Amino acid sequence: MSVHTQSARMTTTQIKKMKQQGEKITMLTSYDFTLAGLVDRAGVDMILVGDSAANVVCGYGTTLPITLDQMIFLASGVRRAAEHALVVVDMPFGSYQVSDEQAVANAIRILKESGCDAVKLEGGEEVAPMIRKMVAAGVPVMGHLGLTPQSVNQLGGYGLRAKEEAEAEKLRTDAHLLEQAGCFSIVFEKIPAELAAKETRQLQIPTIGIGAGAGTDGQVLVLHDMLGLNQGFKPKFLRHFAELAPAVDDAVKSYIDAVKDGSFPSAQEQY
Ligand code: KIV
Repeated sequence: MSVHTQSARMTTTQIKKMKQQGEKITMLTSYDFTLAGLVDRAGVDMILVGDSAANVVCGYGTTLPITLDQMIFLASGVRRAAEHALVVVDMPFGSYQVSDEQAVANAIRILKESGCDAVKLEGGEEVAPMIRKMVAAGVPVMGHLGLTPQSVNQLGGYGLRAKEEAEAEKLRTDAHLLEQAGCFSIVFEKIPAELAAKETRQLQIPTIGIGAGAGTDGQVLVLHDMLGLNQGFKPKFLRHFAELAPAVDDAVKSYIDAVKDGSFPSAQEQY
């Protein structure tokens, strides 16, 4: 079967219908074929090839350095693994800020070269006209409001956003502009739960929260964080659904011991 065959895959229409039916939407990040396959087979609705790859895959301190080519490379591996989930790819910093024309061309490149289903980009009013052009060109777009990590140098850190009424009001306006521009969904990152819940009720399109409380239509987490692979990062909103870092540590230490003491490979593990 072709990697680009659409058969049983989730669609943006189905994601929107889940909101109407009151069914919670699940989303996790993935950046490679092997883990994306596990995530997909477990039944998640959407996979995000997040630019958080800059942090968890490449070890950068921010999401800014990752390039469009690197995102397409990672996304194509995820696409080949995901048979069920809708796969959304982050447009990296610099790929949509220069001009609308370049942004639309880059969004199309992501879909053509990775085979994925949709793009995500950060921002509100300032990106809404560009999103309209992407949607008109046939590119499904997910918005991203609240804490927008690509703007960390302007925001001055990764703290809670929209605590003050002025910023909350801007977020509400931005969310409606993104909906009108044609976004099929919006991520709300690190904003007060009450604001996220109220805005979710106002919008027709689904909201996907991370650090935005239980009132959004769905949730997204960074896979490495929720698997407990990244022990140094434990913000209040994050739950470890497993503790894989100690398991990996144990396995690697057992391997080292077995090689050193000559018990690996055994007679049954050789030809
Ligand atoms: O890059 C990413 O992983 C994200 C999520 C945190 C929503 O944008």
